[in-house]
Amino acid sequence: MSPLLVLLAGVTFPQGLAPVDSGAPAAELSAQRCAGCHTGAHAEWQESRHGRAWTNAIFQREFRQDPLDWCVHCHAPLREQFTEVGRGGGPLADEGVTCAVCHLRDGKMQARTARPGSPHDTVASAGFGSPAFCGGCHQFNFPLIDRSGSHPRVAAYSAHPMQDTVAQHARGSRAAVECVQCHAASPGGHAFPGGHDPAMLARAVTLEVCRAGGRLQVRLENAGAGHNVPTGDLHRHLVLRLWRSTAPERLHETILGRQFAAAPDGSKRTVADTTLRPGERRTIPVPLSALGGAAGDPVRLELRFVYTIDEFPFRGRELPVPTYATVAAQEIDLRGLAACGATGGAGLRASRDARGIP
Ligand code: HEC
Ligand code: HEC
Ligand code: HEC
Ligand code: HEC
Ligand code: HEC
Repeated sequence: MSPLLVLLAGVTFPQGLAPVDSGAPAAELSAQRCAGCHTGAHAEWQESRHGRAWTNAIFQREFRQDPLDWCVHCHAPLREQFTEVGRGGGPLADEGVTCAVCHLRDGKMQARTARPGSPHDTVASAGFGSPAFCGGCHQFNFPLIDRSGSHPRVAAYSAHPMQDTVAQHARGSRAAVECVQCHAASPGGHAFPGGHDPAMLARAVTLEVCRAGGRLQVRLENAGAGHNVPTGDLHRHLVLRLWRSTAPERLHETILGRQFAAAPDGSKRTVADTTLRPGERRTIPVPLSALGGAAGDPVRLELRFVYTIDEFPFRGRELPVPTYATVAAQEIDLRGLAACGATGGAGLRASRDARGIP
């Protein structure tokens, strides 16, 4: 494990290798116990991916395919949630990454600071909510799965990152900005918006198009994320498409994501990574001739952020929620398009306003 993650002060997470012990009685673990006094935090958390970490349809589809205990230890981490899942599920498991997962250890409240007027016996520690804290779930390697027994088990990790968000943040140009500054900035501090939030996606990636002679240049920039885009789950990818409706079969496609191959230890490892590092700009040349059609035909452009391995699920694998979000979609009139590098000619910007980034 990297030294970064060992710095974790106060609250500890078993990183998916075991359930979380809060040390509090089972009857005190539900978020319902906090809702009455912390209305704002509770309402945001309930709508957040943390609040839906167990129930959301994308997770449930993947989990049903390979129902490892390992998954439960991060998506419904408390020991009592694990017991419920073993019995077929229940209301506490449905709370996913609930308040007690982050805030209760040894039966005591954990926080960065104790607030005036607090009724809790709070253990305050500077590391609470730090990148290393988030790394208790957001940084881990491909598991080594032991399928020799009747019940497959994950007892150890390989040396190959599966989710690399915290390490990407630490080595990137925005390492000085803490995760919570971007993700816990909502009024109640608990919305933790990410790839499922249109405003966060717009803030993460900007897109510009200009013309250089016979080709278009599409420039993508990670303008607002503290880590690569996409990060997190291994299936996430961006897909850029350009085409002319007069020649749809000549579709241009560029995928930004990671590719994996089997590793000698039985796990997997990343063999290609085209995700955008913090601040990175990537220019993608698209020869107009490759798009077919007539010279004057407009060009359609679309940039999608895809959550799943299957942007277009096969029969029987459909989801009741979107498999992707559209980050940009537009029709480019070539006559109105600025030449690349032209002074004052800004080209075409599909980005929304990126202000407000700490
Ligand atoms: C060590 C902790 C950990 C373990 C173990 C783990 N996950 Fe996750 N998982 C996460 C985190 C953190 C995210 C959030 C990253 C993201 O949304 O891209 C996540 C995201 C996901 C997503 C994306 C959900 C979405 O909303 O798009 C899926 C699907 C998923 N996990 C399935 C699984 C399955 C299935 C297993 C077991 C085979 C598993 N996870 C095991 C931590 C874990
Ligand atoms: C994923 C971990 C996580 C979960 C789940 C979580 N919190 Fe927090 N909580 C934090 C972090 C991080 C902070 C901010 C620490 C800081 O910067 O001081 C925080 C701060 C707080 C504070 C202090 C006041 C504030 O808003 O800064 C309260 C109260 C609180 N949380 C209540 C809750 C309640 C109630 C729930 C469940 C409905 C909950 N938390 C779920 C991580 C979490
Ligand atoms: C009877 C009301 C009440 C209940 C129930 C309650 N809290 Fe609090 N809590 C407060 C008050 C009051 C404060 C201090 C002022 C503030 O931050 O809102 C506080 C502060 C906190 C803090 C910041 C650290 C501190 O001690 O100042 C955290 C974290 C927190 N609560 C989490 C929770 C969680 C998690 C639950 C549910 C398990 C919960 N609280 C249940 C009233 C309550
Ligand atoms: C106990 C494990 C755990 C901890 C600790 C934790 N997370 Fe998460 N987080 C998850 C899981 C699991 C998901 C994925 C939920 C899903 O979509 O299935 C998630 C989702 C998210 C998402 C939403 C991703 C998306 O695509 O929308 C963000 C943002 C996030 N976490 C940020 C943080 C930050 C910042 C911290 C530290 C303050 C933190 N998390 C601490 C487990 C955790
Ligand atoms: C400078 C602001 C910023 C900082 C710092 C930051 N993030 Fe993010 N994060 C974003 C933006 C914007 C997105 C939306 C783009 C995306 O989903 O890739 C995002 C997305 C995510 C996601 C969704 C995963 C995905 O599919 O791409 C997770 C999980 C996440 N962040 C966790 C973290 C954690 C953990 C940290 C700290 C180690 C952190 N973030 C630091 C801005 C930030």
